[in-house]
Amino acid sequence: MIVDRQGRRFRNLRVSLTAACNYACTYCVPDGKRLVAAQDELSAENLARGVAYLIEAAGIERLRITGGEPLVSPKLDSFLHAVSKLDLKDISLTTNGQLLSRKLPLLLECGIRRLNVSLDTLDAESFRTIARGGDLATVLKGLDEAHAAGLKIKINMVPLRGKNLDQVVPLLDYCLERGFELRFIELMRMGHLARDGNAFASQFVGLNELLELIGQNHAYLQADAPVDATALRYEVPGQGHFGIIANESVPFCRTCSRLRLSSTGWLHGCLSSSNRHYVGDLLDKPRHQALPALQRLLVKALADKQELAFSGGVTVMKIIGG
Ligand code: 5AD
Repeated sequence: MIVDRQGRRFRNLRVSLTAACNYACTYCVPDGKRLVAAQDELSAENLARGVAYLIEAAGIERLRITGGEPLVSPKLDSFLHAVSKLDLKDISLTTNGQLLSRKLPLLLECGIRRLNVSLDTLDAESFRTIARGGDLATVLKGLDEAHAAGLKIKINMVPLRGKNLDQVVPLLDYCLERGFELRFIELMRMGHLARDGNAFASQFVGLNELLELIGQNHAYLQADAPVDATALRYEVPGQGHFGIIANESVPFCRTCSRLRLSSTGWLHGCLSSSNRHYVGDLLDKPRHQALPALQRLLVKALADKQELAFSGGVTVMKIIGG
């Protein structure tokens, strides 16, 4: 097992199935152009073999499938079938929910029990200005169906000043009523926001302000969370929980256990580092050749982690999916 001086190791793997997305969220793609799949994306087979090799080489226990938007990818079916046979404690998926209704039978068939759905607003108009794609009613219908099918659902919301702060409480109420766990994600300095400090600072909303907004409507208590969790968790007594991923206000790099594999075959040990390590060429190799080479790259990827705090990254969220 590869462990660093701070006792960190990779446990959680996020695989971006494709860079393509059917939205063009303002905090992700400033030019508003929807992303298409990269030309050199790996096949479902090679990505799934990557997961299998990383389980052995790094001790990965949990997998999250991301994008781009994973549900738009034609690779979803064969990738899911392949990884569902691997020895993992958990497989979950982050999606914008637009294709959730359509893909739900496949997700259930492959044993997916948990979903994170990105939803920044319940207002159709601000949905259009933030997501710049898709349709709010379709997402809500998909969520109802996934809920009825018994999936455990977390909703990701990025609070943005001037765009959706009026939605903090309505979204929390929506989630509490349905037993979804809402997770507020503090805006991260990723991609263009790492380069344009003004665009970041003018939209950023931090933990304290969020808690104050919530506290005006709901009494809440601090709740327990796993040690390597990225979210601070809170309980609204008798109603449910919510979380805040406070990248800026309460950095969590010290306990980060994440490893990311991009759709084009690059390993990222840290979102805040511009280092990445190409493994695409190892994934068609037999196990005995691939594993030693992978292990050498994993040592480098682990060393890319920040000591303490996320300091911003040129890596774009759209490629790596959070
Ligand atoms: N800061 C915070 N969250 C972001 N996401 C994408 N880009 C950013 C950013 N710059 C969120 C998406 C999605 C999750 C995977 O990451 O809204 O819910």
